[in-house]
Amino acid sequence: MAKIISETSGKEVEVEDGSSMKIVEEEFNIPFGCEDGLCGSCIIEVGEGMENLTDKNDKERDMGIAENERLSCQCSIKQGVVKIKD
Ligand code: FES
Repeated sequence: MAKIISETSGKEVEVEDGSSMKIVEEEFNIPFGCEDGLCGSCIIEVGEGMENLTDKNDKERDMGIAENERLSCQCSIKQGVVKIKD
């Protein structure tokens, strides 16, 4: 099992390894829009565990998000713990 932790609220959510980070929409109230890497509404700041997420894809690179940010609709948690600032 992998775990997503909010550095803001302390909330922890366990998910299966390989789960889409789209789960943060429901569990951490991150607003989603297009769900296709185009609108940027689902950006999350990653405090720890960036290495536990899948690599940035072309849509994330094209959006020019910061080094410590991800589009949660475009990445998955491979394993371990990812801490986000929601
Ligand atoms: S919901 Fe639009 S970029 Fe993720």
